[in-house]
Amino acid sequence: MAFHLFWLVATSFLHLAAGHSHHGHYQDYVQAPIQEPSLAINGIPFDTRAYWMRRANQALSDLVSPCPFGAFGTVIVNHTDGSGLGELVCIGANNISATGNPTLHGEMAAIHNCTAILTDPTGPYNLTASEAQDAFASLSLYTNAESCPMCASAIRWAGFKEYIYGTSIETLIEKGWGQIRVASIEIFERSFDLSSPSRLIGEVLTNETDPYFLWQYDPSYPCPSGCQRVKGSCSAIEE
Ligand SMILES: *[C@@H]1O[C@H](CO)[C@@H](O)[C@H](O)[C@H]1NC(C)=O
Ligand SMILES: *[C@@H]1O[C@H](CO)[C@@H](O)[C@H](O)[C@H]1NC(C)=O
Ligand SMILES: *[C@@H]1O[C@H](CO)[C@@H](O)[C@H](O)[C@H]1NC(C)=O
Ligand SMILES: *[C@@H]1O[C@H](CO)[C@@H](O)[C@H](O)[C@H]1NC(C)=O
Ligand SMILES: *[C@@H]1O[C@H](CO)[C@@H](O)[C@H](O)[C@H]1NC(C)=O
Ligand SMILES: [Zn+2]
Repeated sequence: MAFHLFWLVATSFLHLAAGHSHHGHYQDYVQAPIQEPSLAINGIPFDTRAYWMRRANQALSDLVSPCPFGAFGTVIVNHTDGSGLGELVCIGANNISATGNPTLHGEMAAIHNCTAILTDPTGPYNLTASEAQDAFASLSLYTNAESCPMCASAIRWAGFKEYIYGTSIETLIEKGWGQIRVASIEIFERSFDLSSPSRLIGEVLTNETDPYFLWQYDPSYPCPSGCQRVKGSCSAIEE
């Protein structure tokens, strides 16, 4: 009940905000569900978005397992050259349980990882700290679920060119996840003082991201591919 009320309020806020021009940046932000394969946003076709969203799902298998409980995976991509798929800079996955660090959501882990990769003196980029900070303005962050307010804020502080998410916070809450009920679009709208604009593209390929989040609180929901129910939880099938 409270949840639906919140969304009503958020919707009116958006509606009102859209009617005022004093902040000037609202038009930089879109929240368009892009389930339509024909739609290209920022010149990037849907198939390319889908490729990287699948790669964000794949980050789970690469770093943890095909079905970790906190199934939040992220990839950070350079689309600047505009042709082809773009270039992978780094991946990340929720790493709270292995480290005990409660801030290591998938997006935070990826931002940490990319910072390390961009500044690694023996790596392919070898950027200085200030060059690495600037580099985020040319990068796109794909994450398989809508960011919490901490991560959405980190994405804005980093200055990413684009932020693309799969499963919405609304779906996570409906399916039993505890969440802080602030949508990313609200964080984006309230961050107009920051100099670097960022485009938000929501609910991309949710038909493929949702299954990673729907089994945890629903014992009848099938496990992600490569996993099976063991004592009520999904675990990787041993080869
Ligand atoms: C998910 O939907 C997209 C189109 O929105 C489609 O291209 C893709 O094949 C679908 N995935 C599956 C597993 O059906
Ligand atoms: C989590 O952090 C540990 C320690 O830094 C690292 O070895 C491991 O690869 C990380 N796992 C993920 C999923 O990021
Ligand atoms: C992103 O790609 C552009 C064009 O290829 C390149 O000039 C730039 O250095 C790349 N940035 C990063 C951080 O890799
Ligand atoms: C960081 O990203 C690289 C490149 O994608 C990947 O090989 C590596 O496993 C990632 N490390 C962590 C800790 O996520
Ligand atoms: C990395 O860049 C620094 C200058 O910022 C340079 O001194 C160093 O030699 C470079 N490292 C490699 C492996 O090229
Ligand atoms: Zn988060």
